[in-house]
Amino acid sequence: MNTEEYAATAEFYDFVVPYQTRQDVSFFVEAAQASGGPVLEVGCGTGRVLIPTARAGIPIYGIDLSPYMLDVCERRLEQEPIEVQNRVQLDQADMRDFDLGQTFKLITIPFRPFQHLIEVEDQIACLRCVQRHLADDGRFILDLFNPSLTFLGRELTGDEVGDEPEFTMPDGRRVLRRNRVVKRDVFKQYQDVELIYYITHPDGRTERYLHAFPMRYLFRYEVEHLLTRCGFEVETLYADYDKSPYGSKYPGELIFVAKKG
Ligand SMILES: C[S@@+](CC[C@H](N)C(=O)[O-])C[C@H]1O[C@@H](n2cnc3c(N)ncnc32)[C@H](O)[C@@H]1O
Repeated sequence: MNTEEYAATAEFYDFVVPYQTRQDVSFFVEAAQASGGPVLEVGCGTGRVLIPTARAGIPIYGIDLSPYMLDVCERRLEQEPIEVQNRVQLDQADMRDFDLGQTFKLITIPFRPFQHLIEVEDQIACLRCVQRHLADDGRFILDLFNPSLTFLGRELTGDEVGDEPEFTMPDGRRVLRRNRVVKRDVFKQYQDVELIYYITHPDGRTERYLHAFPMRYLFRYEVEHLLTRCGFEVETLYADYDKSPYGSKYPGELIFVAKKG
């Protein structure tokens, strides 16, 4: 991912209806509370998980590569009580190469930032950074989607699809988001995805923004091998944020809880 990727669309992130209704926040907040903190969230974005964690009384450090996502996070934090603000530290950093000079009881990568890493060397670089920052008795939660073989087997039509409802921004702009997969590389296990934002201004003027990015997909045993190779031991694997075990639903999620091996 490059630093400009979210330039045009970061402001919409918190209004996207399926993001607002994701059922993962309490899972991460409870894990943070169980750890006692401090927590490191890698790829914290606009603070969707980070801010509720700080509200729950846990000190949390967030890093993200996008200055635009961090800017939204900072503006959201300014609305919070001072004691919540004081529990948060933010930095612009690449998950493949960071040194924060401290260790954490819990490190999380919620909602798939790790899948922005396409090459194995990048994945390993990230996991080694996480390893170095994890306390000896700490836990690491890696949150990925479980690739659906049905979906991956589908022919690419190039059509824009999606059933997300339109949303309205505070300034009255209406936003409709659609998506499409423009390329699938089954050998390197990634898809080129586009998120397309159709904006209608209150005066009727329209705009179209494109957020295009490659998204890696990883399979269960591949991730286990990667984690082991980088010095982790998988403790639990969930298929959902309600803690359903892996294998209880398909495709579900791939939510790894790991400790130092
Ligand atoms: C789908 S958002 C998830 C944000 C947040 N964790 C959440 O749950 O809402 C993915 C985030 O990963 C960040 N990201 C992508 N590549 C990154 C990298 N190499 N280093 C740090 N952050 C990265 C993006 O800037 C974006 O904020």
